[in-house]
Formats: sequence, C-alpha cells, structure tokens
Amino acid sequence: DLPGRVRIHEVGPRDGLQNEKTTVPTEVKAEFIRRLADAGLTTIEATSFVHPKWVPQLADAEELFPQVRDLRGVHLPVLVPNTRGLDRALALGARRLAVFASATESFAKANLNRTVEESLAVFAPVVGRAKDEGAHVRGYVSMCFGDPWEGAVPLHQVVHVCRALLDMGCDELSLGDTIGVATPGHVLELLSALNESGVPTNVIGVHFHDTYGQALANTYAALEHGVTTVDASAGGLGGCPYAKSATGNLATEDLVWMLQGLGIETGVDLGRLVATSAWMAERLGRPSPSRTLRALSHK
Ligand code: HMG
Ligand code: MG
Repeated sequence: DLPGRVRIHEVGPRDGLQNEKTTVPTEVKAEFIRRLADAGLTTIEATSFVHPKWVPQLADAEELFPQVRDLRGVHLPVLVPNTRGLDRALALGARRLAVFASATESFAKANLNRTVEESLAVFAPVVGRAKDEGAHVRGYVSMCFGDPWEGAVPLHQVVHVCRALLDMGCDELSLGDTIGVATPGHVLELLSALNESGVPTNVIGVHFHDTYGQALANTYAALEHGVTTVDASAGGLGGCPYAKSATGNLATEDLVWMLQGLGIETGVDLGRLVATSAWMAERLGRPSPSRTLRALSHK
C-alpha cells in the first residue's frame, strides 16, 4: 500500500549547493530558501555548521541562517558534525539539527576525519545536548548501499550505525545512497533488515542520489514498504564533495511529478518549484538535470 501523504525533506540549499563550483552569494541562497518555502516545501535543509575549510560553499552559515530562520511554517534543519557545530547552530536559534554518520570506514575518514566508532562517540553528546535543548535531531547514514572505495556495503554495517544513532536519541534516520548505486531490491532488503533489528519504518527517511537513474525507482520501493519521508533536491542539484562519483540528489520536481500521478499529497506547487529551480540554474550558469523541470520548462 502506498501512503496518502509524503513529507519531502528538501536538501537543495545544503546537499545541492555544498558541491557547486560557483560561489553562490548569501542573498541568493536566502532567496532560494524563501522561494522553496513559497512553493510549499515545509522542511528545507538550510546549511551546515561544519568546518569552513572542509565545505567552503557553506562557510556563510552564520550570515545565511538569520536571514531565513523566521520563515513561517517551515522547518530549517542544519548539519552539525560535532559540539563546535552544535554551539554555532544553537547560538543562532536552530531547532532542527542533523548529525551525519557513515556505514563505512573509508567515508567516515574522508568526510569526518574519524573512524565510524569515533564519529559515533562525537555525535552522542551532540545529540544528547540537542535533545536537552528540545531540538529535533535527524541522523544521516551515508554509504548505505555502496561505497566508492569499499564496494557493496553489508546490511549489518548499516543496521549497526542506524541502531547506534537511535539509541543516542535521534528522532529520525535518513538512509543515504551517497553515490547513487542502490537498486529497488537492495532498498527493500535494507528496510527489512532494519525492521528485523527493531527499527520501525516510521523513523526512516530515504536519501537517494540519482547517479545511475535509479532514485525514483528506489523511492517507489521505499514508499511501498511504508516510508513517508523522502529527501530530494530542487532541480537535482548536488553531490558530495568527499565522495567521488556522487552526483545530484533525486530532483524534487521528478519526485513531485511521480507523487502527483500516484495521488499522493505533498503540499508542493510544482509550477512554483520549477520556476524556482530554473531561476537557480540561471544563477549557477548550468542547466538543471531534472527531467521534469526540462519537460515543463519547454512547454
Ligand atoms: P578535523 O580537522 O578532524 O577537526 O575535522 P578537529 O576536530 O581536529 O578540529 C580542527 C579545528 O577545526 C579546530 O580549530 C576546531 O575548532 C575547528 P583550531 O582549534 O585548530 O583552531 N572546527 C570547527 N570549526 C567550525 N565549525 C565546526 C568545527 N569543528 C572543528 N563544526 C570535521 C573534523 C568534522 C570538523 C570536518 O571533517 C568537517 O567539517 N567535515 C564536514 C564534511 C561535510 O560537511 N560533508 C558534507 C556533508 S555529509 C553529506 O553530504 C552526505 C549526506 O548528504 C547523506 C548522503 O548523501 O549520504 C548527508
Ligand atoms: Mg547527500
């Protein structure tokens, strides 16, 4: 059975822009977020409080966040890798936070400069304090399906990290197919393995990158399994600077087109969303990879 409603977790301003070569002015980012909210997106990942040398594109988090934090009816999650990031985010009034773990050692090292266990040990007090402050915490798990250095990722590694994040107090998980190699059967295997280890489907979100054109098929499989939170990036922007061969996320337009056709509610106005992503593509000076955006823009 398919759900009647899906919550789209928009990651364009964070996952999308973190990987852009062009420096995007802070005002343009703020305008992007405002337009996404205006298109009906209610969860918009705004930026990351990471080390500015590691992700220069998001080094303006302190300037950007105050420009958008008072948007009404919108959750604005931000990424925090450690207590330093948590302090920065809480100081600006962030109420939704995300830590980001890895199912593989190679990516934990490349992305966080830590082993998997070391990074979990860094996250535990971050999540604990965030929860004490009444914040909502998402736990990302990267490389849930394949890893550019290690190949296919065993299910038990993913299950272990997911369990650890929930045990430390995360409210929800996001299963990252960072390099976009998952296929629907693999998605169902992982979801079942998680359920069997006591992780309920209602805390699971899915985060597909579209490298091999499987993101929508994977999403459909997850929806049939009962997942109702889907990450997507306006215009299909994005990638990950610390994972070679990672391309953009599932495009929000492509997702909304499919969900509309299935009669699943999202609250998103597709016309406004397309206009926003087309506007952003112009700012970035390159066409959007979203098929739906292209089809609707050429009408
Ligand atoms: P490190 O070099 O090990 O840091 O990096 P450290 O803890 O040794 O600290 C070194 C210095 O950095 C210190 O300064 C800290 O204060 C400072 P010093 O004392 O030398 O003057 N520092 C910070 N400054 C500002 N903000 C901070 C911060 N932390 C330390 N938060 C670190 C470790 C985690 C900081 C680094 O590896 C990092 O910033 N990584 C972020 C990588 C990243 O953002 N990747 C992209 C997001 S993940 C993703 O895209 C995947 C996802 O989309 C899901 C999927 O697709 O799979 C979520
Ligand atoms: Mg990602």
